[in-house]
Amino acid sequence: MLKNSKTGKIALSVLLATAVMVSAGSLSQAKADISPIVDTSAIADFALPNVTGSYNINVGVGSDPTELDFNWFTQSLGTTQIKIAPTSTMSGKSFPASAITQTAAQTAVTATESINQDETLLPDANGVAAVSNYQDNVFNGKLPAAALTGEYANKATVTGLTASAKYSYSVSDGKGNWSPIYTVSTLSANSVSFAAFGDPQIGAFDDSKGTAKSDPTGGHKSVTDDKTGWSNMLKLVTQNKNLNFLFSMGDQVNDYNYLIQPSNAADGQWYQYNYFFNPDATNNYIQDIPLAAFSGNHDHQMGEYYGYHYNQPNRSSLGATRYGNDGDYWFTAGPTLFIVLNANNYGTADHDQFMDQAVKANPNVKWKVAVWHQSAYSEANHNTSNDIEDPVLTIRNTWPKLMDKYGVDVVLQGHDHYYTRTAQMLGGNVINPVTGDPEILKDNTSSIPGTKNTNATYGTKEYPASVINPKGTVYFTLDSGTGSKYYNLNSGTNDSIGGSSDHSFSVVGWQGYVPSYSYVTFTDKTFTIKTYSTTDYTLNKQSLIDSYTISKTS
Ligand SMILES: [Fe+2]
Repeated sequence: MLKNSKTGKIALSVLLATAVMVSAGSLSQAKADISPIVDTSAIADFALPNVTGSYNINVGVGSDPTELDFNWFTQSLGTTQIKIAPTSTMSGKSFPASAITQTAAQTAVTATESINQDETLLPDANGVAAVSNYQDNVFNGKLPAAALTGEYANKATVTGLTASAKYSYSVSDGKGNWSPIYTVSTLSANSVSFAAFGDPQIGAFDDSKGTAKSDPTGGHKSVTDDKTGWSNMLKLVTQNKNLNFLFSMGDQVNDYNYLIQPSNAADGQWYQYNYFFNPDATNNYIQDIPLAAFSGNHDHQMGEYYGYHYNQPNRSSLGATRYGNDGDYWFTAGPTLFIVLNANNYGTADHDQFMDQAVKANPNVKWKVAVWHQSAYSEANHNTSNDIEDPVLTIRNTWPKLMDKYGVDVVLQGHDHYYTRTAQMLGGNVINPVTGDPEILKDNTSSIPGTKNTNATYGTKEYPASVINPKGTVYFTLDSGTGSKYYNLNSGTNDSIGGSSDHSFSVVGWQGYVPSYSYVTFTDKTFTIKTYSTTDYTLNKQSLIDSYTISKTS
């Protein structure tokens, strides 16, 4: 969703920012100076509901299967702690004397409201948006000041755990209040299975794209519908007995402007985070299963607020935006290295350096996976986008070179709310499934090599669903995991730099207007992804949309 139209309120800071940009002359001149002007008039007055005890509790994947990374919020300042022990050593609800008690790192939470990002990137001589001066999607010549929300983020990284083992834990708020006891399993060192979702985007509740067609809920009409959709999806995927963790492709929350919406005191990003972490009053999905999540353009819209919600392993300053707490991170599970990139910073230098570090730190992995939000090979609304928060063409033209450079096998993305599987891609070109070589357009005048080669378009049945030792990288864009918003196939013209939408990279495209997810498994020798849609959230009734397997024989 591009703008929050539901609030019906235009913030003062937005108007001021627009005025500054106009007076600064041309957009390109203004972009060359990336010193933000802090708009003190935009200091927010966060009047959040009072909460006693810990909330927004989540357990993140660790750096490897012997680690878990916990994160929770409190509204009390104090020595917050986690208590954790192997579940097998618990005596009912009593922790054994051998339980680990560890003090969390506590940080006062800040957020930034009402960030304006209406600008459009200007194309360079090749028709591609210039990124050299402009690598952070929140820069707009004016930066509303951050303000304290009255909350504290508590992070505890627990190491030295046993892989594939079940643990019980509880967290405290520093005032003597301990959470209920939750149970979570560490990941496996041998193989790994996870459920991946496109944008949950709690709070979007956009039913304008035909969601009512086949969704028994009749389309989402409130944030409660989004919350229920998320709960239903978690109920479904946790029926997979070998599920190790949950992977959300960014845009966990929707609101662009407010922690609490002026027009709806029960909605806004504050509530949307609550619903994302606890969509269900009787289940503790997010407390009981490790989660990996990252920033989308919507999460990013409340400034540094996003980064306080997650404890991410090996998080770097590389790839961060100006907020600093949203950089790239990596982790390993089973035979696989997962590299998480922040596409809100869409330059390449930071990500190149980060990938180099991550790959060098993990020389023995069998598979490399990269994930980010704003999809490179996108087929719906954002197929032709190249503006400040949707730098799709820029990413399509630059990031795949990094995937080639570091030998990434699989890329998972979100943002376009439309499922796409590409061909194997190398050098920006589709790989011919028969010859195994990239399809290179001989008279290619495109600035985006290969992706304009309509001769290289393969139908689903023409491209194998199972490949052995392929060259290049396969890219997936995942559709909505909650049903909060869907986009239609883009068959029109480019909305920012001219030209037609390009789908030559796509082998499978799907929009069913019902929630979907991908179940992914890596073993030493195989990668398997199966993508399912669902309307009744039981495993034996879900529908297989697509399946793809890569085998490695050496
Ligand atoms: Fe998005």
